[in-house]
Amino acid sequence: MSVVGEKEKTNVNKKVSFIYLSQEDCIKAGGLDMNGTLQAIQKSFELHGKNEVIQPTKPVIRWGGPETEETRGRIMTMPSFLGGDLDVAGMKWIPSMPDNPKKLGQPRASGIIILTDPNNGFPLAIMDGTIVSAMRTGAATGVAAKYLANPDSRTVGIIGAGVQSRTQLMAISSAFKNQIEQIKVFDLNSEKTLNFGKEMTIELGINVVGVNSAEEAIRDSDIVVTATMSAFPYVKGEWLKEGVFHSEISFWDTDPKESAHYDRVVVDDFGQVKHHGVDVSYRAVRDGYLKEEDITDLGQIVIGKAQGRKSPSQKILFNPIGMSIHDVSEAYRVYKNAKENGIGQELNLWEKPHWL
Ligand SMILES: NC(=O)c1ccc[n+]([C@@H]2O[C@H](COP(=O)([O-])OP(=O)(O)OC[C@H]3O[C@@H](n4cnc5c(N)ncnc54)[C@H](O)[C@@H]3O)[C@@H](O)[C@H]2O)c1
Repeated sequence: MSVVGEKEKTNVNKKVSFIYLSQEDCIKAGGLDMNGTLQAIQKSFELHGKNEVIQPTKPVIRWGGPETEETRGRIMTMPSFLGGDLDVAGMKWIPSMPDNPKKLGQPRASGIIILTDPNNGFPLAIMDGTIVSAMRTGAATGVAAKYLANPDSRTVGIIGAGVQSRTQLMAISSAFKNQIEQIKVFDLNSEKTLNFGKEMTIELGINVVGVNSAEEAIRDSDIVVTATMSAFPYVKGEWLKEGVFHSEISFWDTDPKESAHYDRVVVDDFGQVKHHGVDVSYRAVRDGYLKEEDITDLGQIVIGKAQGRKSPSQKILFNPIGMSIHDVSEAYRVYKNAKENGIGQELNLWEKPHWL
């Protein structure tokens, strides 16, 4: 065989391509199917519990101390690999720009996700990560609520009427099918409170009413969600109903000293929480209100290694930092649907490699 022939052979079928999925493509591929998202997130919690994931701590670009994330913004880089029968790697790049809604009429967060085949390192997809990110954040609360909220929960109080609050409610109502009777919402922006109430009432088929204060939303609620851009604490432990499940997905809403009001604190990954150094569960440990060994990672509960709710009266705080494995697991679900249904645009990384 000639040397030239060998070279030609190596350049045959060397194309590497991937699919590009815009936000509209992700939606067409089932990106808003909360039941599917709940399954993807349940699976990634299981793999996390079994230690079948690789998830380095996330680098954060910010233009000052942690508190400036709520004012100036940040950019997070979140890589991970999921093993088991998923076998996929990926990364989310997600800027958060707090002024975007007011200044530009655009969402605070805009994400891009890369999915990679871990066996050859080639890209599978580059896709909008904004829908995936919001859906997986809602689903993390939904999965946690299944294990940690009282099973007969009927009322929800939610603080914040932004993007995340939508998926938080989608997930809770999916996880507690036909059971949630009333949802109270409070946002500092009264117009947003009103519009959110109207839109979510139609979307969920549950009465979502705007109220005039965080206290009103939280008191008497079986499930509480705090999902705001607040830069100051306002939640008072004394407002919490006996047996409450509180998911705090944002960072400054609850003061560490209020952690004394909870019987149990559960996170998604305390290593990640500690590294970010912002969430209330971390600051409560740092300030001596909680012991690190008393905080449980949800994956341990999901795989049955740790107990979930121990009694109907327990007040439980869930404080997820948000894990890359959730983004990758959910993005992979959407990607597989897109491939199956011919959605998205095929793009070449290369037709043939320039160097070998
Ligand atoms: N833990 C996670 O996995 C995770 C994932 C995504 C987003 N987040 C966090 O969730 C939060 C909400 O994100 P979003 O995309 O919905 O933002 P958004 O800008 O769409 O909405 C935030 C809302 O909070 C309201 N708000 C601010 N301060 C308030 C207060 N003191 N009381 C009541 N309402 C108040 C604002 O008016 C706004 O409507 C952010 O802090 C974000 O970083 C966490």
